[in-house]
Amino acid sequence: MQTGVSLVGVGSAKPSITLSNAELSQVVETSDEWITTRTGIQQRHVLQEGSLTSLATTAAQEALNMASTEAASVELIILATSTPDDLFGSATQVQAALGATQAAAFDLTAACSGFVFALATAAQYLRTGTFKTVLVIGADALSRWTDWSDRRTCVLFGDGAGAVVLKASDRDRLRGFELRSDGSMNACLNLSYAAESQELIPGKMVQKGTFQPVTMNGKEVYRFAVKRVPEVIEKALFRAGLSTADVDWLLLHQANQRILDAVAERLNIPSERVISNMARYGNTSAASIPIALDEAVRDGRVKAGDLIASSGFGAGLTWGAAIFEWL
Ligand code: UT7
Repeated sequence: MQTGVSLVGVGSAKPSITLSNAELSQVVETSDEWITTRTGIQQRHVLQEGSLTSLATTAAQEALNMASTEAASVELIILATSTPDDLFGSATQVQAALGATQAAAFDLTAACSGFVFALATAAQYLRTGTFKTVLVIGADALSRWTDWSDRRTCVLFGDGAGAVVLKASDRDRLRGFELRSDGSMNACLNLSYAAESQELIPGKMVQKGTFQPVTMNGKEVYRFAVKRVPEVIEKALFRAGLSTADVDWLLLHQANQRILDAVAERLNIPSERVISNMARYGNTSAASIPIALDEAVRDGRVKAGDLIASSGFGAGLTWGAAIFEWL
């Protein structure tokens, strides 16, 4: 039985519409200078029309093409998202759009850590021999849940999707992972159900409501990220019998360029080994790692055999790291 896991294809998709810092300064009191120096973001892609499902499907199809894999041979689809088109789950919509008729499909929610959590989840099915081909997608459209009057959050997020194809293999290229959560800090970053009451019959109230836009204590989340992310990467490397000296690429959730720089410094990884597309995408939540991986593979930076230390972190709070070799 093959108990190893290999990543054999990657793809990504983004909405065609971009929103620049200058455009945002027409919406809230902010400036290109503040956003660029505090976050590294220059623009973000936002969904004007279309669905999260269509973004996720395009990313997944690209990954399948790179892997020369037919959709019909995919046995499992995990869609990491906090912003599905359907709260019952959008993975099945992606499954139908791809024609992945043999695949089980479900959503997984771990906010900006979603891709890493989904990767680790997918690996369990592959290692146990349950499935041989799995699609992991990270896709989010946080622009739908942004408070456009809150300058502390509305400048940060963008929309997009990224996907990888995983296969069972003799050689294990997913070398290690580590997943963590701390619900006691949940209030730092929320996209919460906003309950209202309605009277169903006299004297019997039931809830109704929608979701409140994203709220964040940026400073707390920043502090958490620069402390916990290096720790979790070092732990995952240790489990894999590796050290930071073995890492070819540091691929972090793209939340803030200053977080990327601080984590790289703590791990003693030089900046030329840090993958960043912050400037063009902003924070695309569960999509940010696979989008950045897709770009780095397609432009030739990441080569076969390169060791990548990836880490997602965010709401929950959740954080995790996955150490893998490309191809
Ligand atoms: O993806 C999930 C994980 N999320 C993260 O990792 C985000 C982590 N946090 C961060 O990246 C940063 O904390 C932010 C980018 C969100 C904020 O940067 P900061 O350096 O922590 O700024 P701050 O919140 O301390 O705000 C500094 C000042 C404040 O003004 P006062 O109170 O000093 O007068 C803010 O009101 O900057 C002000 N400010 C802004 N000014 C112009 C906050 N947002 C803006 C803005 N434009 N967009």
